[in-house]
Amino acid sequence: MPKDPRKIIIDTDPGQDDAIAILLALASPEDIEVLGITTVAGNVPLDLTSKNARIVCELAGRPDVPVFAGCDAPLVRRLVTAEHVHGKSGLDGPDLPDPEMPLQDQHGVDFIIETLRREPAGTVTLCPLGPLTNIATAFDRAPDILERVQEIVLMGGAYFEVGNITPTAEFNIYVDPEAAEIVLKSGAKITMMPLDVTHKALVTRARNEAFRALGTPVGKAVAEMTDFFERFDREKYGSDGAPLHDPTVIAWLLAPRLFTGRFINVEVETQSKLTLGMTVADWWRVTDRAPNAMFIGDLDAERFFSILTERLARL
Ligand code: RIB
Ligand code: CA
Repeated sequence: MPKDPRKIIIDTDPGQDDAIAILLALASPEDIEVLGITTVAGNVPLDLTSKNARIVCELAGRPDVPVFAGCDAPLVRRLVTAEHVHGKSGLDGPDLPDPEMPLQDQHGVDFIIETLRREPAGTVTLCPLGPLTNIATAFDRAPDILERVQEIVLMGGAYFEVGNITPTAEFNIYVDPEAAEIVLKSGAKITMMPLDVTHKALVTRARNEAFRALGTPVGKAVAEMTDFFERFDREKYGSDGAPLHDPTVIAWLLAPRLFTGRFINVEVETQSKLTLGMTVADWWRVTDRAPNAMFIGDLDAERFFSILTERLARL
């Protein structure tokens, strides 16, 4: 008896890797039902992340997916963006048409609250792919939804990989560390995809060629996105291609056995100027702090890319 598709809300700051995560989710309707996409300021400002999310839905042939603009700035800090990684548009690389589908009138935070209150408890998974501002705001405004969340599967943080925006912090957490602290202390079931695993999901030349070889507008756009997106990591880390951070979140929903990790305590630095946004992951269990997150450290990259490419071929 086939299982019902898992109902998810994607909270996102597209971003080329966010875009590929959205495409992977929309290419898997038998496994995943995207109830809506909420956008947040992160890689680029909110107006651009909200435009880019709709561009990607239309690229996937899914202008029916409702897109809701969320918070335009972190809870208490000034917004830090990442045009140096994603380009001025946030989706540099492919030449894609402006969206025709409208943005929903409802605020993204209200959509998250309303959906969690409407759907049966424990049946909606939140998939944050950017700073956690929307999620934290929803939890703060409506604490009753906390126990109704099935699981939070997020991209963010780092331990062995340390930082990508500062020496100690990963971008999504660094942009809004107060929001990350609210989510990490929320008591929700959390699975984290940190840089420790995403830096092992690299779009090598061969993998980029496999996207292009799909011979479809989606395959071409994804190849062009990763061609652009890889510059930052190649220059900084000498990586052998773009790290597909956000698609690991969706791949976890599709094939969790591709991944390995530990259920450990993870906390975030919100005070120190030196290490602001650092995720302190007790990977070696040296403290008595209670475990609060499944912290993923590794994946079967070959199988990850073959599933991703096979699914993208369906769009
Ligand atoms: O640090 C990587 C994360 O920051 C990814 O989600 C990327 O899209 C950016 O938001
Ligand atoms: Ca992102």
